[in-house]
Amino acid sequence: MKISNQKPFISGNWKMYKTIPEALELVKAIKGASPKLTEAELVVIPPFTILSEVAKIIEGTSVQLGAQNVFWEEKGAFTGEISPFMLKDAGCQYAVIGHSERRQYFGETNEIVNRKIKAVLAYELIPIMCIGESLEEREKEKTIEKVETQISEGLKGIGKEEISRIIIAYEPIWAIGTGLTATPAQAEEVHSFIREKLAEKYGNETASCAILLYGGSVKPANTYSLLKEKNINGALVGGASLEADSFIQITEDAIKAYKEKK
Ligand code: 13P
Repeated sequence: MKISNQKPFISGNWKMYKTIPEALELVKAIKGASPKLTEAELVVIPPFTILSEVAKIIEGTSVQLGAQNVFWEEKGAFTGEISPFMLKDAGCQYAVIGHSERRQYFGETNEIVNRKIKAVLAYELIPIMCIGESLEEREKEKTIEKVETQISEGLKGIGKEEISRIIIAYEPIWAIGTGLTATPAQAEEVHSFIREKLAEKYGNETASCAILLYGGSVKPANTYSLLKEKNINGALVGGASLEADSFIQITEDAIKAYKEKK
């Protein structure tokens, strides 16, 4: 599957929320709005238990499906894990890898992230690799250093063809679920650094096509100003993706901002 940043990319990470009936209600509402949101790439990322149910509902629409995590093996005695092959089977096109909550609570390292990225690429899923600094790192002015290490280790051994199938989400940890959002200027500084790094490694043309997302308390009130920034191509939305109205509003605002910056 080819990816492009011609449209804003709006993805909703539902984290560990929603029962099956709740999820179906939400995805049906998003599906209902999707014909007027075709100027955005729209992706929902529900918990594993709901993936195949959601896949059935969105079949034949522009709404796409992602998973919140993945293991690197195809199959085997790995109790509790889900493989890229299984995600494909459930109808996914995307897999979030290295979310800060996975790094923080489940010990995911850059090495693990790298292994997972390679595994999902082999199954033609698009990895959404998450990176970002803690509050302490930001206060010590270590943001760029942290992000640089996460990129270089997370993307180790990734070639030019593969990088064009990877999405990077910058999610400052201090902005996740806190109501604190990076200012558009703070987010843009990191996004432009990420694109520069990609350009150094893979050339300008490849870097200019990369999809770079911002995540961390994205809501209708801040989407437009974030998406107006040159290097921000979309959002990975947590809390505000759990309600159809706010997720749809975010998508509409992103479309508006994207049109105006072209
Ligand atoms: P919030 O939008 O709830 O801050 O979560 C962001 C996030 O972690 C998305 O992956």
